Amino acid sequence: MKKTIAVIPGDGIGPEIIAEARKVLEKVAAKYGHTFVYDEVIAGGCAIDQFGTSLPKEMLEKCLASDSVLLGAVGGPKWDGVAKEIRPEAALLGIRSALGLYSNLRPARLFPQLADASPLKPSIVAQGIDLMMVRELIGGVYFGEKRTVTLENGERRASDEMVYSEHEIERVARVAFETARKRRKKVTSIDKANVLDSSRLWRAVVHRVAEEYPDVECSDMLVDNTAMQLVKNPSQFDVVVTENMFGDILSDEASMITGSIGMIPSSSLGEGTRGMYEPIHGSAPDIAGQNLANPIGTILSAAMMLKYSFDMPEEAERIEQAVSDTLDAGFRTADCMSEGMTRLSCSEMGDQIAKRV
Ligand code: IPM
Ligand code: MG
Repeated sequence: MKKTIAVIPGDGIGPEIIAEARKVLEKVAAKYGHTFVYDEVIAGGCAIDQFGTSLPKEMLEKCLASDSVLLGAVGGPKWDGVAKEIRPEAALLGIRSALGLYSNLRPARLFPQLADASPLKPSIVAQGIDLMMVRELIGGVYFGEKRTVTLENGERRASDEMVYSEHEIERVARVAFETARKRRKKVTSIDKANVLDSSRLWRAVVHRVAEEYPDVECSDMLVDNTAMQLVKNPSQFDVVVTENMFGDILSDEASMITGSIGMIPSSSLGEGTRGMYEPIHGSAPDIAGQNLANPIGTILSAAMMLKYSFDMPEEAERIEQAVSDTLDAGFRTADCMSEGMTRLSCSEMGDQIAKRV
């Protein structure tokens, strides 16, 4: 099969981890007889430097013309001072929105080989961590009206509207239930319905959709309690579905309890098969250019792309197995290093995984 992939290396460690994902994809292409065409997209801080804006129109068009988008990371302190409309993050939000990618899947699964790296007590880790966070991605407070006004007394006031319509909740809820059907058939819907109207609507719509899935157990949990339950008893979760900002916050927490944020991939999808795939970590400017980063989150994102956008489940599985085998062989990058393991650079980790594909 021939597929065009819009590749966004981005900023910081982005180019390094993307290079490793491409290395692994090329190995898959050779082994299974596919052709992947990479269309390089300049977006994020590097695009601000080059074009004066983080998402030039022709770059967005490359994404829209592709079969799928693979992204490293965008942003960094260098661009902290730029206008909010052209910030590196605006590129990410712009692509998510323009491609209609409303459901963001972030698996948090403990690799047994990395149990030592989890900050949780061994007794908690021993119960297993394998949850799928389904985050609504193009609504809520991220995309509601933003205003900063100066009051008569000279004081400034800022507001961000958290807004959801029923159809926005319904479609992501459906993704959560469909996902649960292929897993342990349990959905936990996270909200703040004791305070927020948008959450009360969220809860009502999720319950309505739940009726169509009698085989899936559905319950609600308040977001503050969820933050606690994730460290106290993470094994209780199968599929977790939540609105955009809650999902942003909880997915960092969920990933960290598995040992390293550097391991976690994500997929963002809308109605069609074209998605965007990226590790959930950021651009890590502190270690950029040093060949230190963990490329596994990006490599597993490429695997998700093969599975969800290109209908290549076997190839995806091959990559996941190669990652697992590499960890079994005792190889680690600095972020999840533990005693007795062999420390690898970013590119060496890519080599080891590619070799095992
Ligand atoms: C994420 C990131 C982004 C988000 C930032 C970079 C805009 O934190 O993908 O989780 O908040 O969605
Ligand atoms: Mg985040």
